[in-house]
Parts: sequence; C-alpha cells; structure tokens
Amino acid sequence: MHRLITLFIFLALTACSQDDPPADDYDPGRDYFTFADTNAFVTEHLALDLDVDFERRELRGFAMLSMRRLDPEAGVLVLDTRDLRIDSVTILENGNSSPAGFEFGESHVLLGTPLRIELPDTAGESFDVMIEYATSPESTALQWLPPELTAGGKHPMVFSQSQAVHARSWVPLQDTPAIRITYEATIRTPESLLAVMSANNDPLTPRTGEYRFDMPQPIPSYLLALAVGNYYFAPLGEETGIYTEPELLDASVYEFADTQAMLETAEEMYGPYEWGRYDLLVLPPSFPYGGMENPRLSFITPSLLAGDRSLVSVIAHELAHSWSGNLVTNATWRDGWLNEGMTSYIESRLMEIIYDVARVDEERVLSYHELLLDFERVPEPMQALAPRLDDADPDGFQGTVHYHKGRMFLEYLEQAFGRDAFDAFLKAYFEEFAFGTITTEQFLDFLDAQLLASEGAPLTRAEVERWTYGPGLPDDVSLPSSANLEAAAAAALAWSAGDTDLAEIVVDDWSPQARIHFINSMPADLPLDRIRELDAAWELSKSSNAEIGRTWFIQVAARRFEDAYDALGAFVNRHGRGRLIVPIYRALVENGKDVELAQSLFAQARSNYHPATVAWIENSLRSAGD
Ligand code: BES
Ligand code: ZN
Repeated sequence: MHRLITLFIFLALTACSQDDPPADDYDPGRDYFTFADTNAFVTEHLALDLDVDFERRELRGFAMLSMRRLDPEAGVLVLDTRDLRIDSVTILENGNSSPAGFEFGESHVLLGTPLRIELPDTAGESFDVMIEYATSPESTALQWLPPELTAGGKHPMVFSQSQAVHARSWVPLQDTPAIRITYEATIRTPESLLAVMSANNDPLTPRTGEYRFDMPQPIPSYLLALAVGNYYFAPLGEETGIYTEPELLDASVYEFADTQAMLETAEEMYGPYEWGRYDLLVLPPSFPYGGMENPRLSFITPSLLAGDRSLVSVIAHELAHSWSGNLVTNATWRDGWLNEGMTSYIESRLMEIIYDVARVDEERVLSYHELLLDFERVPEPMQALAPRLDDADPDGFQGTVHYHKGRMFLEYLEQAFGRDAFDAFLKAYFEEFAFGTITTEQFLDFLDAQLLASEGAPLTRAEVERWTYGPGLPDDVSLPSSANLEAAAAAALAWSAGDTDLAEIVVDDWSPQARIHFINSMPADLPLDRIRELDAAWELSKSSNAEIGRTWFIQVAARRFEDAYDALGAFVNRHGRGRLIVPIYRALVENGKDVELAQSLFAQARSNYHPATVAWIENSLRSAGD
C-alpha cells in the first residue's frame, strides 16, 4: 500500500489539532520518521552489491552495513525497511561471521516495517551486518519503466527517489537524515544499459553491465540514488555534464547550458563545491519531482525542456542543494526549511547573477502567490518554518512553506543585515557545519552568535523566531514585486473588463512567467467565451511550456472549460511530475462536478505514474469523498 498522507492533502494533520499542547515527551530534535535508534547504533558505511532484474522488477543482492555501537547495552539493532524480502542476516566481526536472528516488527503506513536484528553477545563496538535481500515490485522508491514509457521506446529503465523516507524501500538501513554514511556499490544490469548513482560516475565508463561506484563523502540516506537505463553522456563544461537517453541529449545540452556557470558562481559565493563532478540525469516524464539533488548527479524532470531555458531555476535549485542540504543537512524533516528554504534563497541569488533581477522577481511573486494559496490549506501550527512534526507525511506536510516562506525569511535577514554581511554569514555557516546535520535551533544559535548578538543588531532573536515558530508571515516582511507581472495582471484585468482586445496586448516579449500571471489574474466569473477566445489567441491548450500548461489546465478544470478537457486529459497523461498534474486533478475534484472524470483519467494514466505521484493523486481523489 502506498503512503496515505501526502503532498497536497493533510489528513494526518487533522489528528494534531491546533489546540493540542505538545505531548510532554515531544522532542523537536528527534526524527520521528525512522524506527532506528541512532543513540544506540550508527551506520558509518554501506556496501551494496545488487542485480537489477527488469523481468521480476526487483533489485536483489546484499547490503553490508558497517556499524558502530554507541550504547554498550543495546543488543538489538533496528533498521528501517519497506516491502523488502530479507533472506539472511550475518554479523561479521574480526574475520568471524555468524548468522543473526531477525524479525520484522509491526508495519506502519508511513514508516514501513522495522527489522530487528539480534546481535550475538560477542558483538563489540564495531561490526558489519551483511543482509541478503530483494526489493518488491511495489517499492515506493523505485519506478520500473517498460520501454514504452521512455523516450527511446526500446529499453526498460528504473530509477529511485529516496527522499524523504523511501531509501528503506530499496535498501535496509537506518533511514534518517540524522546520520551520514559513505557508500560503495556494485550494480549488475543488462549489458546494453548504464547504471548511474549519487556517487563517482565516470563519463567514460564502458558499458559492461557491471558498474562500480564509490561515494567517499558521507551523506544522509535520502541522498542514496540509482538509475539504470539507456543513458549516454554529453559534457556541458569542465566538471558538468548530462546523462540521458540519446533522444533527449541535444535538447538537454541546449536547455541546461548554463549549469557550469551556475556551479562556478555558487562556488564564488558559498565556498568550494565539495563533491567532484556535477552532472544532471534527465529522466522520463514520470519522474515525480522537478528535480532531486542526488549528490554529484541531480535527477531532473524532462518537463524543464521548454526550448527557451525559461525553467532552469530548478537546475539552480538542485545545484544549490550541494551546499544547503547535501553539505549541511536538516537533522529531521521538521527542519526541512534549512534544506529547501535556504536552497530556494540561493537559487534566487544564482539566478539573479546568471540572468537578471527582473526575471527572479517574477519568480518571487509567483512563489509568493503559491505560498498564500498554501496558507489557505495548511493549518496554522504547520505554517511555522519549524513546526511540531511527529505524524504528518514528511514528503510534503506543508506544501511550499519550507520553500517560499523559507526563502522570504532569508531575504528578510539579508535586508536587515545587508547583503555583504549576510553573504559572509552564509559562507561561514557552510564552513562551520560542513558534512554536518543540524536543527533549526542550531541555525538560530549560530545566527545569534554571528549576527544577532552584535552591537546595534537590527533584529532580536524573538523577531527572528516569529518566522521559525509562528504562522503566516510577520507583518514587517517586504513583499516581492515585479513590474512585468504587474503589467501582466493589469492587462488581464483590462481585457477581462472589456477595456482592451487581446490583439492589442503585445505578448511577444512576455516571459512564460508573465503569461502565467496573466492567466492567474483572470477574474473567477469571466465568461467561458472569453476563456475560449484566450485559448484560441495564445494556443494555451497546446503550450509546450509545462508551467504554462499546468497553470492553464488548473483554470480549465476550476472553470469547467470543457472545450479543453481532451487537451487536459492528454496533459495529465503526458506528465507525471506531481507539481504539474496533482493540482489539476484536485481542481477537477473541487469544481464539484468532475470527480468521475478525474477518476477515469487517473485510471487510464495510473500505470504510467511513479508511486509517489500515485499516492498524491489518490489522496486528492479520496478527499473528494470526505
Ligand atoms: N529535494 C526536493 C524534492 C523533494 C522534497 C523530494 C521533499 C521529496 C521530499 C527538490 O530539491 C525540490 O525541491 N524540487 C522541486 C523544485 C524546486 C525548484 C522547487 C520540485 O520538484 O518541484
Ligand atoms: Zn529542493
């Protein structure tokens, strides 16, 4: 069964009502999304040896965990698993090996199933655990694609998505960002395919069907990643390049040509890039996210291939995670804003330098509007950057709060202390906590020591904590604005009111973001013949820009513009990225008349979607029955 509670719906949150005082034993520093006890044991290294079996849709082989025992009394090692078949467990120590007893504990819908391993009395402070296992075809991390769902249509593919709590569905391990591990792997695949990982991929690797990887820098488990497919490589710059199917290689090289410049800019601002190469893996449309910052190799949706580089802020974002997230990691998912908010902030800074401020201001305004929509859905306690979090789904419990409120918080600090001082602060932060895992409170303490405590500091800690612990936005925030978007909104209103004709609005030099804002600015009661007129003039139903498509089809569904329902159906069939399609399903459900249509579109497309996307849509559809 897939996760029940997910990105856009907050069923679990209803269980934790606003007025409930935190239970006495709630510990904000604890990761509530693992069965592992990292006070008793920590993993230091992982060695994987896996066969990739496309026929059975399983990874099969061994995981060897090098463990250190912190609590001398602890006799049972608990690992996270989900839908794994465990064949044997062996303890290795000082050259001796002995089989260990093991059993599964009770399964939990979000967390999977604890695996309890009985340690022999002889086990000392350091030992290895060798686990022979296989994944299930239902692994929530893995999508097994038949050739038809790839660009080339001839070879199968599989890829992983471990964040937030799905590494455990392809490797038995302590699945928590609270600890970091190094890893190595041997992956065997059909001979014609290439395996890549969040590790030292060598662009010149011969295709042998057996691939070796090393990841010498310690990473949290959610950054473990594997993909196998008909991938080829093309360089972008000295340390950057692209892996993808040959059919997408040229388009990807064009679209993401600025990646090397982004990397160099980020290094100048925030200190050395610690990971060796930085490559992109462009996946099929079913990849559930825009991007995933797997170290050395970000996984990327092909929906960014708009042909005009207009959506590459996602690349800046995933690259920025090489500092915020991968180098300095949130201790628990409750501290996710340290990953996502700081990354969104850095993304904007990089985009300002490589493109221009006006472009970034457009994105800031669109993000702010998304945040306001999320504030309508997310209960107040969950609107804090660092809320109480012990039962909601960490894959998206508060929508975009971590991202956009997080970015606005850091922009607020930047404005208060000045750009130079704040840049120096962030650089020092990455140096101080490099390869560390920290809580919101550690961030605040460091901010306190570096900036708040200084003579005449413009902000107090209490003012800062309104962001981390309070709902909504503090009232002294400065809101983003964009002259381009204001013009687009004004044009939308003038046209809606009948004051101008569409033909008079010169949109040739408008960015996709301006068009998006125009679409979102149309009054709710605009008659459908005007919507039809807009579609005819701008060919929105045929747009090849995925963000315009998303915006348009949300409106099509919300307004029940049935002329475009076929195109809407094609859109949700063609794309599998949650952000692009889940809100369209939700808008169909919420218009009160199209639940059945949503269900039948989902039934048709479901087998094309990744398990994460399936779970999000199921939630949207289920909430229709509430
Ligand atoms: N790390 C996230 C993706 C993620 C978040 C996966 C939470 C699982 C749980 C990634 O960096 C991300 O934020 N992707 C965004 C793009 C970004 C520009 C907002 C996305 O997928 O849309
Ligand atoms: Zn991110």
